[in-house]
Formats: sequence, structure tokens, C-alpha cells
Amino acid sequence: MRRVIVDTDTAGDDTQALALSVLTDRLSVEAVTVVAGNVAFDRQVENAKYTLSLVDASDIPVYEGARSPLVKSHEHATEIHGEGGLGGDLFPETGIDSAEGFAPDEIVARCRESPGEVTLLCIGPLTNLALAHAREESLPELIDEVWVMGGAVECRGNVTPAAEFNVWADPDAAKRVVDAFDVTLVDWGLCLRTALGPDILDEIDAMDTDLADFFREVTTVVRERGEAGGLDGITQPDGLTAALLAYPELRERVESYPVAVDDREGLTRGYTSVDFEGVTGEPADTRVVEAADSEGFADAVLAMLRDRDPDAAFE
Ligand code: RIB
Ligand code: CA
Repeated sequence: MRRVIVDTDTAGDDTQALALSVLTDRLSVEAVTVVAGNVAFDRQVENAKYTLSLVDASDIPVYEGARSPLVKSHEHATEIHGEGGLGGDLFPETGIDSAEGFAPDEIVARCRESPGEVTLLCIGPLTNLALAHAREESLPELIDEVWVMGGAVECRGNVTPAAEFNVWADPDAAKRVVDAFDVTLVDWGLCLRTALGPDILDEIDAMDTDLADFFREVTTVVRERGEAGGLDGITQPDGLTAALLAYPELRERVESYPVAVDDREGLTRGYTSVDFEGVTGEPADTRVVEAADSEGFADAVLAMLRDRDPDAAFE
């Protein structure tokens, strides 16, 4: 089992990534760290705790991290995830305490304790990981892998024409992380290519399980927007990233390139530049997942929502 810390700005698709990461036997989620992003920070913290409780994992500690980006100001994405981040009608109050300690410190402590054994699954802005690196400059050598949902590789962004939300929300952090760590990147373009189609959504609509109910709830707004925007289905960026980490068999093509992040304020804030031709002379140390088995991903989501067993899709 791969030991994992999930760093999240818990809203709609984050919840599905958390659930899958807990329910698969391929991963062992040892901690959840919360970072400023999608919706109000304290809502995100409750969303993470509520999601863990739905998959009987309330024993996993939830650490609170950065409540704002390193430098820039950012807006929440309530227009995507609904007020509160879970579709707009769900505002859980779990009464579960957060774990003691600031998330970046906890990331450092755990990686120091188990050098080379802990993987970071980053499914929100990269502020916590950037702050952890500022505390421990050898963190790239102490961590196993860093998987990031972020960036827009040769495709339009989803928050501006140039940028995807996680990188746009804190481009200064994203630049530091991409420059310092060997990141595996799951970008917005791949999420568009592996969206859950109407046939999958129809199957989920026909399910009578608590996880299917939860999925329908948290994707309410993104489905309405998708239908209105002509997207035939819905993307699941964070769930896809978690599934690609858990199931190497879903990774159809992964290539390494030099990738740079534009941290300047303005038109191209958060743009992720991929040097496909190697013209920059920079190290090709970012692994970009360029193709994924979208049917296999959908099967894992269906198995999780139907039977709480995403691994069944691979047996
Ligand atoms: O651009 C998609 C990403 O931004 C996802 O992680 C989603 O949860 C939001 O944080
Ligand atoms: Ca997220």
C-alpha cells in the first residue's frame, strides 16, 4: 500500500478523491491537510471530516493549513461547487476536532519520520506544500512522490483562458513546487478528455446507495453548469488524480517535460508552460499524464459508489 497524505481544498470533486483514496486497498491515507481554495476554509475542513465519516475513516487526522495563498488574493469557486462546496444544500457540522498542528509542519514531520515513504496527493492549490518546503528545504528528497491536480496543458483554462483553478489560485506556490519537486501532473485537459459521460451519470442516478446520493448532491451545480455549457458529462479532476495514483493501469501515456508556471499577476497568471521540444534547456522533471483510460476510471467510480469498492473494477 502506498502511504499518502491528501492535501485538499475540500469541495465537490475533492470529496470523491478522498473517498476513493480511503476505500481503495492500494492506498493508505495517513493524514488529510486542508488548504485555501474552493470555498470558505472552515467549510472545507468540515467537508473533509464529513467525507471521511461517510467512508468510516474519521480516525484519519485532519490538519488545518494555509487559509490564504502565499501572496495573491483569490476568489472561491462557489459557482462550481455551490455555497459551502457540497452542492449548496449540505453544510455538515461534524463536531470532530481538527488535529493539533499546522498542516505544512505536519507534512514536514511525517516526511522526516519516514524518508522516501510518503506520497503527497495535492488536489487543491499548492500553498501548504510550498510552505512545507520553506520549512524543510530537503523535503524533495524526503518525499516519495508528489501528484498534483493542476495546470492546463495545451488547453483553455477553467478559471481564466490561460489557467486552471488550483494553479491560478496560488501561482507563487505552484511555481515553487513545480521548480523544486519532481511532480506528476494531472491537468485540466486530461480531465476534459476523461469526463464522466451521460451514460455513466445515468447509471449513478439509478443507484440507491449513500455514496451515490452524496455524489449526486455534491455534483448538483457542476452538472447544471455542464449541461448549460454543452459539456456532455462532468469532469472529476481530483477523483481522476486519485484514481491515476492508485491504479497505474489507468495511465495510458506519461511523458516528462520541463514545465514552468507564470506567477505574475495579470492575463497569464497561473499559466503552465510545457516545453515539449526541450527548447528551454530546463530539466524535464515534470511527469505529465497525457492519456488515461477513461472507461476504467468510470468503472472505478461506479464500483465505489455502488459497492464502496473501487478496486472491484480492476479484478
Ligand atoms: O481546476 C479543478 C480543481 O480546482 C479541482 O481540484 C477542484 O476541486 C478545484 O480545486
Ligand atoms: Ca480540489
